[in-house]
Amino acid sequence: NVGITSLILSIKLDEVFLNLFLNLFFLFPHGLSEALSWKKSISKQHSCQKITNLVFFYLQGWVRSVRSQKEVLFLHINDGSSLESLQVVADPSLEKRDLTFGSAVEVQGKLVKSPHRMQNMELQAETIRVVGPCDIWSFPLKMKERHPLEYVRQFPHLRCRNNTLGALLRIRSEATAATHSFFQNNGYVHIHTPIITSNDCEGAGELFQIAVSWAKDSAEETHFFNVPAFLTVSGQLHLEVMAGAFTHVFTFGPTFRAENSQSRRHLAEFYMVEAELSFTESLQDIMQVMEDLFKTVTSTVLSKCPRDVELFHKYIAPAQKVIISYSEAVEILKQAPQTFTFKPEWGCDLQTEHEKYLVKHCGEVPVFVINYPYDLKPFYMRDNEDGPQHTVAAVDLLVPGVGELCGGSLREERLPFLESRLQRLGLTDAYQWYLDLRKFGSVPHGGFGMGFERYLQYILGVDNIKDVIPFPRFSHSCLL
Ligand code: 4AD
Repeated sequence: NVGITSLILSIKLDEVFLNLFLNLFFLFPHGLSEALSWKKSISKQHSCQKITNLVFFYLQGWVRSVRSQKEVLFLHINDGSSLESLQVVADPSLEKRDLTFGSAVEVQGKLVKSPHRMQNMELQAETIRVVGPCDIWSFPLKMKERHPLEYVRQFPHLRCRNNTLGALLRIRSEATAATHSFFQNNGYVHIHTPIITSNDCEGAGELFQIAVSWAKDSAEETHFFNVPAFLTVSGQLHLEVMAGAFTHVFTFGPTFRAENSQSRRHLAEFYMVEAELSFTESLQDIMQVMEDLFKTVTSTVLSKCPRDVELFHKYIAPAQKVIISYSEAVEILKQAPQTFTFKPEWGCDLQTEHEKYLVKHCGEVPVFVINYPYDLKPFYMRDNEDGPQHTVAAVDLLVPGVGELCGGSLREERLPFLESRLQRLGLTDAYQWYLDLRKFGSVPHGGFGMGFERYLQYILGVDNIKDVIPFPRFSHSCLL
């Protein structure tokens, strides 16, 4: 399995493959994680007893298909532990009117070796109880139909019963556990950074302000905390506090941005993985952690899904990445044969169309862009001193199909630099506590944040970010 260990940063997920991968979920339903499959749950079932080679088994789940033949009734029951459903064979006399697609059932019977080539075992039902019937006429999901993702998105309360969303959410769960393991195994301390905060870490003003539901005027709104309070846009500043005691820290929680965007890569509520490293003086160290995190989590996710890994191996290219400076990136964009909606200029932010072009130009591999203009980035980034306030030690990781996956920087640890920057921005009073961190045992440090949904989009090739989170929130939409 050299492919897994030498993983990825360079999975070339072109559009064709992305769609192919999603289709493969349907074509090869047995491809999902064996570790997650119902087979594992068999061994955990208390009600499962092995008597003379027959395993008496009690299955609870939802009906995925019903096929009634003269001699035999076939059901496929899925309990959410895997993409794989367990085939149930029963006497037609056990068929009931409310035993339909989508209904919740309990089946008791014997688990036997299946004569069918596609499955090892099947359940010979002795009793079938419909726990919760499902009206198939009004149920928006239909048996054996491949519903487009846009269609199931309308039903956030039901779409997890669809194969694609089910698989994605199990993978999301694996990736979450793998992210925690990566940091824990590398000596990082996990910090619960607050969701409610009084600062705007990124300084971009994309804040959701918190108000009590009973407030009648703005004075009452602030009254609860005495100061205006917001949902966090990043846990970074709180992590920096903790990096002053624990050296290496991380957080992984919900993050909120009031970006008025319905794009396929922006959410108003998303999960961010953030790390902060003390005693770090180079962007190289930060980029290495980004890369290691990506590789470790991805290889874990893939190895938990062995059949999918087989498919992935075909597409894994030798590990490659490119590092370019922001200035080089702007030059590449200026030389581009195509015209952009936003004209590339030094000092302007890179737009999605620019990020896409840069990734394509570099050969559809992950691209680290480093050293951004000073005025483009938040106050906490470290001045490179390559001219009067010219560039800062920032890094963005751009990946094919998604664009920016990670953003990070070295932090300005030098008190006079930080003081003058905060003063120019009129933020000195608000950030006295942050200046304190530079007065008491300050060390060079840096960190980064990775958008967890964009990570899932990238590794699974999902076009729209709304399909990798259970309940997407974006402007003009907050269903449920
Ligand atoms: O580049 P950003 O804004 O970096 C920060 O917030 C730093 N304070 C992180 C740090 O250094 N600790 O955001 C980090 C990542 C982006 O690269 C992107 O993947 C994701 O968060 N992200 C979003 N994901 C979904 N929807 C949005 N609206 C997002 N905004 C950022």
